[in-house]
Amino acid sequence: MYMYMNPVFFGIIAGGSDRKVLVASMITQRVALKEAGYDICIEDGLIRDFGALIRERLGEPAERETALVTDRNVWDRYERAISASFARAELKFRAVVLNPGEENKSLTGLGGLYDAFSEMQLRRDGLVVAFGGGVIGDLAGFAAATWMRGVRYVQIPTTLLAQVDSSVGGKTAVNTNAGKNLAGVFYQPSLVLTDTALLSTLPEREFRSGMAEVIKYGAIRSKRLFDSLKKELSSEALRDCVGECCAIKGGIAERDEYDNGERMLLNFGHSFGHAIEKLGGFRRYNHGEAVAMGMALAAETGERMGLTARGSAEELRGLLSFHGLDADCPYSPAELSAHMELDKKNSGGVVRLILLTTLGNAFAMSLDPCEFSRAVGAAREGEVF
Ligand SMILES: NC(=O)c1ccc[n+]([C@@H]2O[C@H](COP(=O)([O-])OP(=O)(O)OC[C@H]3O[C@@H](n4cnc5c(N)ncnc54)[C@H](O)[C@@H]3O)[C@@H](O)[C@H]2O)c1
Repeated sequence: MYMYMNPVFFGIIAGGSDRKVLVASMITQRVALKEAGYDICIEDGLIRDFGALIRERLGEPAERETALVTDRNVWDRYERAISASFARAELKFRAVVLNPGEENKSLTGLGGLYDAFSEMQLRRDGLVVAFGGGVIGDLAGFAAATWMRGVRYVQIPTTLLAQVDSSVGGKTAVNTNAGKNLAGVFYQPSLVLTDTALLSTLPEREFRSGMAEVIKYGAIRSKRLFDSLKKELSSEALRDCVGECCAIKGGIAERDEYDNGERMLLNFGHSFGHAIEKLGGFRRYNHGEAVAMGMALAAETGERMGLTARGSAEELRGLLSFHGLDADCPYSPAELSAHMELDKKNSGGVVRLILLTTLGNAFAMSLDPCEFSRAVGAAREGEVF
C-alpha cells in the first residue's frame, strides 16, 4: 500500500548552509488568518530552493524529523531534484511514497501514514511535507492535523488543481465508505511552496482539468484573469496566473476560513459538476471536465433567468473550448435534477446555485426544487424563464 523509503540524511555540503534564497521574481502571497497566517511562494523553477525556503521561513533545524509524503508518479520524476534541494539546505527527511490515485485517500491510506510516522518516530515538533497533487495534500494534511494532535505541515503542490485550489485554504480530508471527504478537518499549512515548472510533466488531461478551476476563478472574481487566459500561456504567464488564483482563494479563505459564507462562491459550476461526475460513474469525466460543463450550465441558467449578462455563457464556452474543455453536457435536466437531490437535503430543501451577474462577478442563490427544475430545464431547452 505504501513504501517507506530508507532515511535520507545529508551531511554538511560545502557552501550549502550559506546559500540564501535568491529568487528575485518569486511571488509571495500571504494568507492572513485570524490565528495563524502562512505564505504561498510561487515561482517557475522553485524546486531548487524548497529546502532553503523551509529552513528560512519555518526556522527548521536540520536535525528535526521530516516526513515527505508523496506518490510514485511524482517521486519517480522529482526524487533527485527534491533530494538535492533538501541537501543544499542540510534538511534531512524520510520519503513515504504511496501508490497514486484517489483510492489511497482513505482510512487505510491514513493508517499507513500513521505507521510510517510511528516507525520514523515523528514527534510533535516534527514536520510533514505533502509533495503531490490534491490526493497527497488532503491525505498528508489530515494525517499531520491528527498525528499527536497536530504537527506542522508544508504543502508542495504538483498538479495545477493543487497549485490553484487544494493547497490553499486548509481543507484536509479522507474519503470513507459513505462518501468523498467525509472525514476531515480544517488545518492550515505553515507554508505552501509552488513550482509551476513541475506542471510540465503533468498528463495533459490533468492539466486541462486544473485549467477548469483557473477559468472558474476568472469567471467568479476577475474578468482581467479571465481575459488573460484567451491566449497560450508562457511559463511566466502561467506563474502569474497561478499567483492570481492563489490570491483570490487566499483572500476568500481569510474572510471565510471555515466555509460558512463567501467560500461557497468557489463552488461555481460544482453543483452541476458533481451531478455530472456521478452520472458518468466517476469514470467518464474527471472533476475538471465535469466542472467545465457545470459552469456553462450555470451561466446559461443565469442568462435564462435574466440574472446573468447576455453573452456570458457563450464567452465562457469559447474559453473552455480554447483550453480543450468540452462544455456540452450530455445529460438531461431531469437527470441532473435527480442527481442534485443530495444537495437539496443538505441545505434544507433548497438547491444552492452559484450564478454570475457578469463574467468576473458571482453570487449565491437558493432555489426550491420546482424553481430549480424549471430554471435548468428552460436553460437546456432555450426557453426564456
Ligand atoms: N482540500 C481542498 O480544498 C481540495 C480542493 C479541490 C480538490 N481537492 C481534492 O484533490 C483531489 C484531486 O487532486 P488532483 O487533481 O491533484 O489529483 P491527484 O493528486 O490524484 O493527481 C493526479 C495525477 O497526477 C499525478 N501527478 C501529480 N503531480 C504530477 C506531476 N507534476 N507530474 C506528473 N504526474 C503528476 C498523480 O500521481 C496522479 O496520478 C481530490 O481528492 C479532491 O477531493 C481538495
